[in-house]
Amino acid sequence: MKILRIDSSARYENSVSRQLVDELIEKLQKDSDTEVATRDVAKGLPFVDEPMVVAYNTPEEDRTPEQKEILELSNQLVSELQSADVIVMGVPIYNFSVPAALKAYIDLVARAGLTFEYSSQGPKGLLRDRKTYIIITSGGTPVGSEIDYTSGYLKHFFSFLGITDVEIIAADSLSRTGSDKLTQVRQQILSNVA
Ligand SMILES: Cc1cc2nc3c(=O)[nH]c(=O)nc-3n(C[C@H](O)[C@H](O)[C@H](O)COP(=O)(O)O)c2cc1C
Repeated sequence: MKILRIDSSARYENSVSRQLVDELIEKLQKDSDTEVATRDVAKGLPFVDEPMVVAYNTPEEDRTPEQKEILELSNQLVSELQSADVIVMGVPIYNFSVPAALKAYIDLVARAGLTFEYSSQGPKGLLRDRKTYIIITSGGTPVGSEIDYTSGYLKHFFSFLGITDVEIIAADSLSRTGSDKLTQVRQQILSNVA
């Protein structure tokens, strides 16, 4: 089983999302033979710019060598997603939404013709469905509340690509709930993660 681990916290030491992702992957590894690929988006990804948009919109056979080079990273990120059997993502809420580094990732993997397409029935995801765990951490924003623009956004984005088997694990409002919440989340990971 191939696991794709996606981290997005700017923190390393004391990052709760990275720690919980470690624990969830450890649990998955106990139950089957696994291979883990890691994509740490916090290490920096480019933002989509004009040459990239033009390259995206140029049919593959007409792309110049420069355009092919421009798309190399995006193609690699897409291929990591395509080959994963399970995705485990750690996402801290930053200013009510996803970290900018994760948004940069999203803009690099949403590729018409590769990960989604427009049909006469509207948009259609081109990735096969697979189990996806999204661990969301927050200081005060409750996941599922009116001011949570993270969980619904990520669920919608994954379903746009064809991935609907998404489980949100909320380690939220940690500045209020602290270690009680973490104990609860750890129990959820131990008992629910197959
Ligand atoms: C730049 C920044 C913005 C943040 N914005 C929010 C926010 O809007 N709502 C919230 O509840 N917590 C916010 N936090 C707190 C983090 O979500 C919280 O500390 C979380 O545990 C971070 O995940 P990590 O422990 O994996 O780094 C913010 C933290 C940072 C660094």
